[in-house]
Amino acid sequence: MPGLLDNQLLEDILAQVRPLIGRGKVADYIPALAEIPGNKLGISVCTVDGEVFSAGDATERFSIQSISKVLSLTLAMGRYDEHEIWQRVGKEPSGQPFNSLLQLELEQGKPRNPFINAGALVVCDMLQTRLSAPKQRMLEVVRALAEQPDLAYDGRVAKSEFEHSARNAAIAWLMKSFGNFDNDVITVLHNYFHYCALKMSCLELAKTFLFLANQGRALHLDEPIITAQQARQINALMVTSGMYDGAGEFAYRVGMPGKSGVGGGIIAIVPHEMSIAVWCPELDASGNSLAGTAALEILAQRIGRSIF
Ligand code: DON
Repeated sequence: MPGLLDNQLLEDILAQVRPLIGRGKVADYIPALAEIPGNKLGISVCTVDGEVFSAGDATERFSIQSISKVLSLTLAMGRYDEHEIWQRVGKEPSGQPFNSLLQLELEQGKPRNPFINAGALVVCDMLQTRLSAPKQRMLEVVRALAEQPDLAYDGRVAKSEFEHSARNAAIAWLMKSFGNFDNDVITVLHNYFHYCALKMSCLELAKTFLFLANQGRALHLDEPIITAQQARQINALMVTSGMYDGAGEFAYRVGMPGKSGVGGGIIAIVPHEMSIAVWCPELDASGNSLAGTAALEILAQRIGRSIF
């Protein structure tokens, strides 16, 4: 692993981006998230050699929000044939905000990709069909990946989202009107909001997502999570769609597959080398962590890593 990478480097990077706090905006469309202090800042890196580095608020849990969309796709890939997934959701960047309805109407209820809200809702609908207890299954998977048996959903955040669910409900109903939604809308929304309300720290996220850097395998589990090819496919989708209408900017500045959440977390992958998680709650106009993106940009430069 790059000799350059150590806890001190991560401390330095956080010190460099801390002045950016104040320039973004904490998500307030989910009231329970609006209460989180904007000055939280953490980073963790896990390498495929088993090294772990952290700095700042790396062990404090936060709402992973849309980062969970990568986990739900991972679960679906294990239960559906490839063509069954991609006939219901596309693989193209949307160039639209993550909760937009516009394209969905124009494109007959088939979401552009699994990482916008519409796409993740279709994936949750598919999980509802094939899993007897989708909420419990997700917990089992993250608890095993992070080696943290106490990982849990934040019931307050899930409830808060449910009480402000008009837009996601509209997305789900629109897809149902096009025949691209099989299960009860309320049931699927309930699961989707719980996935978004998973509480994890940077350290737990970096550990959980190491399988995407390590050809589908967690270091401590015998069975692969997904195949090496599926890990490549998810990384590719993260490059094109993981940061919504900010995907181009993120590829340009950071150069790694990434996935953000409106809780201010971002995971990024250096294939065959490491997984990185950052957290800073203030967001940019695309809904991605402002200082978190800057931290990843500096880290990529300092360790000389990019997939391009
Ligand atoms: O459904 C929503 O709007 C949120 N639970 C998740 C959105 C999100 O995290 C988008 N990410 N940047």
